[in-house]
Amino acid sequence: MFLEFWNNLPSLWKTISIITTALSVILALYLRWLRIKKIRIELKEKQTEKEYKISDKASLPYKESNYDLFNSTTQEFYRLRYQANRIKSFELQHLDNIHNILNVSKPNVLDIGCADGSVALDRFHDSKKWGKIFGIDNQASLISQANSKNISNFSFYTFNINKLCKENFDLKKHFGEPIHLIFCTMSIHHMGKKNQLAILKYLWRQLENNGILYIRSFDDSLKLSCSEYSDLIDELILISASIPGASDRYHGRKLFNQLISLTNNAQNIIMDYFMTDTIHMTNEEKESYFQYAYGFRLDRVKTTYEEYPEIKELYERASKIIELLKPEFIYNDSFYALSGESIAYAIKKS
Ligand SMILES: C[S@@+](CC[C@H](N)C(=O)[O-])C[C@H]1O[C@@H](n2cnc3c(N)ncnc32)[C@H](O)[C@@H]1O
Repeated sequence: MFLEFWNNLPSLWKTISIITTALSVILALYLRWLRIKKIRIELKEKQTEKEYKISDKASLPYKESNYDLFNSTTQEFYRLRYQANRIKSFELQHLDNIHNILNVSKPNVLDIGCADGSVALDRFHDSKKWGKIFGIDNQASLISQANSKNISNFSFYTFNINKLCKENFDLKKHFGEPIHLIFCTMSIHHMGKKNQLAILKYLWRQLENNGILYIRSFDDSLKLSCSEYSDLIDELILISASIPGASDRYHGRKLFNQLISLTNNAQNIIMDYFMTDTIHMTNEEKESYFQYAYGFRLDRVKTTYEEYPEIKELYERASKIIELLKPEFIYNDSFYALSGESIAYAIKKS
């Protein structure tokens, strides 16, 4: 229909429309270039301002992690799915290994920080292989979403792990089943830097002998990049680690120490690393990866800023960094980025 319309246009109109379209594209590109140039100058100026110091954390109020998945943007759900899918085959191989080590025909599993249950369902849906699957999360709305899926051997409970740990609550007794595998993915770093070890020790006590405690986590230091924008990436990472309510962004490096303090024997611990680089990604893949690794930080800084107006400067800075970084990350073919996630599991030998 458009072609017919176009063919019937007088040639003068055709020429005018082509010229107008071309001019608009040139103008839009020029405006974008001007904007990026302006942001670059502003960022350079900021860098030289002495009073601007993110490392001066003492000036920021401290608050334990206050991650609220249910009330976060839908992008956060998408980000968690994306994360779980990327690492799926790597994780399934380790779960096969774990299944063999457990040497129980249908091991029972407890998922800590299970959210809406989708990771547990994805990893443990094979009822010929896995036994009862329990999940706990402190957000009741996520637990009711999880339970609404109504899968027979799955049950989810609203529990705050910090509270259970303090009360030394007997989970095995509560479930009426032994727990062979405790599965914690992307959750321990939200449970308070000071509480992590106590929680892991508590979970360890809940495990059967020869049971396994599995943790998947990350460390922001395992996010490298090489481009003229690397400093901005590093700064963005620092901002997201410094804001009140931030999770433990450097948890990955602690996994070995945490597990060795449970088993006292490195031979009972297995660790592995899942690395991702951007070199063969399409622009679309890079866009999703950018949101997963960097973009989400701005959402977090924004919600924190709504509660703590004193971080206004950090919020503005993070917004500018994202605005400048995102198109470069996606469209500049020489932008190199690498990230790593860690998994670690320990076998409870009697
Ligand atoms: C980043 S999400 C990870 C969800 C899921 N395990 C995954 O891999 O996608 C962290 C989850 O831990 C839960 N969580 C945080 N603190 C908790 C606590 N103290 N007790 C129980 N769950 C908690 C959050 O509600 C959230 O659902």
